Amino acid sequence: MAIDFKALAQKYDTPLYLYDFDHIRDRYMQMKEAFGGSKSLVLYAVKANSNLAVIRHLSGLGAGADCVSIGEVNRALAAGVDRYKIIFSGVGKSDEEIKEALTKEILLLNLESEAEMKRVEIVAKELGVEARISVRVNPNIDPKTHPYISTGLHENKFGVEIDMAKRMYIYAKRSKYLNPIGIHFHIGSQLTELEPIKEACTIAVNLVRSLRAIEIDIKFFDVGGGLGVVYDKEQTIEVQAYADMIFEATKGLDVTLLCEPGRFMVANAGYFVTKVLYEKENSGKRFVIVDGAMNDLIRPSLYKAYHRIEALKDDGEKRVADVVGPICESGDFLGKNVPLPPLEHNDLLVVHSAGAYGFTMASNYNTRGRSAEVAISDGDDHCIRQRESFEDQVRLELACDSSWQK
Ligand code: LLP
Repeated sequence: MAIDFKALAQKYDTPLYLYDFDHIRDRYMQMKEAFGGSKSLVLYAVKANSNLAVIRHLSGLGAGADCVSIGEVNRALAAGVDRYKIIFSGVGKSDEEIKEALTKEILLLNLESEAEMKRVEIVAKELGVEARISVRVNPNIDPKTHPYISTGLHENKFGVEIDMAKRMYIYAKRSKYLNPIGIHFHIGSQLTELEPIKEACTIAVNLVRSLRAIEIDIKFFDVGGGLGVVYDKEQTIEVQAYADMIFEATKGLDVTLLCEPGRFMVANAGYFVTKVLYEKENSGKRFVIVDGAMNDLIRPSLYKAYHRIEALKDDGEKRVADVVGPICESGDFLGKNVPLPPLEHNDLLVVHSAGAYGFTMASNYNTRGRSAEVAISDGDDHCIRQRESFEDQVRLELACDSSWQK
């Protein structure tokens, strides 16, 4: 389906996030079918795009949610995800978050340190409940991705070493307040090679077997997220090959497989539409200045990530330009050396593959209101988040008493 960017930009103004919900459905079905026939659950990693409508859409198709804060857990619940399809990971859960997660009886808390396990035990004891837990193992594997999104090496803060994981399972098994039923790993994001995931799987499978030998029965085998997508010309992992590798690695184990795709579900479904404000040249270097900026889409600035940028006009000779926003930072760019035709005030540019880690990483830097978000579904467009106004931004400041300054 061709998206009428011009009409949508006119209707909702720019900068604007658009998400193709039909594409999201296709991606979910692809994943679900690849795992079909096995006991499995696709837990959408909410951090990639946490708009309630996106979660509701995936939940309606049967997805659960992988969450990394109690805020995300509450989003998942508010969007209709069943509590027993929600898991909560993260290296730093507060007592309040642990308490709320236990009270809400979600499927699993993924533990990332021994100290955290002890806190969960204390909180569970206070509540008089048994916490269902999973331990995130750090298999010390180089996932061959950007260092900022690599998470499975000992130098990264995530998870625990195998020996420590084993000690944690043994401790948890003895505790009245902990029920160790899951194992988890996630070695990184935007992964384009299967081999590192396979190695991590093997390490986790071996641990499950050794735990079974001491009567610790792991029921949930969570392979994390991380499947890469095409931003440019990447060779990505085929979903069926991914699922088959996991089946092979876990053969005979009789576990429920959990996977936590985020980017895979939503990245390519998203477009960031921005309007040209001006063109300028500094000593022959061409800049196209647009109304979208690093506060809207920080991936290019933060990771030097590439997002294809397309002009919605084709006349005139293309010359390279840096596409930059209005923010007072040299790092404020959406693309470098982008071949673009001559552009005029109000021409539109479409930034592709912006559905994951786009809006969720947006900020109000420079007191810029965050963009509106729009879903396109079955040929219709629906606003799923209004554009943020100045009043929205200052509401919590104005709510405080400022009389002490008078
Ligand atoms: N599960 C866990 C435990 C995770 O930490 C992550 C992502 C996921 C699942 C989902 O990974 P995915 O399938 O989306 O690759 N902001 C960065 C990505 C950070 C990913 C953090 N963890 C970016 O824009 O590339």
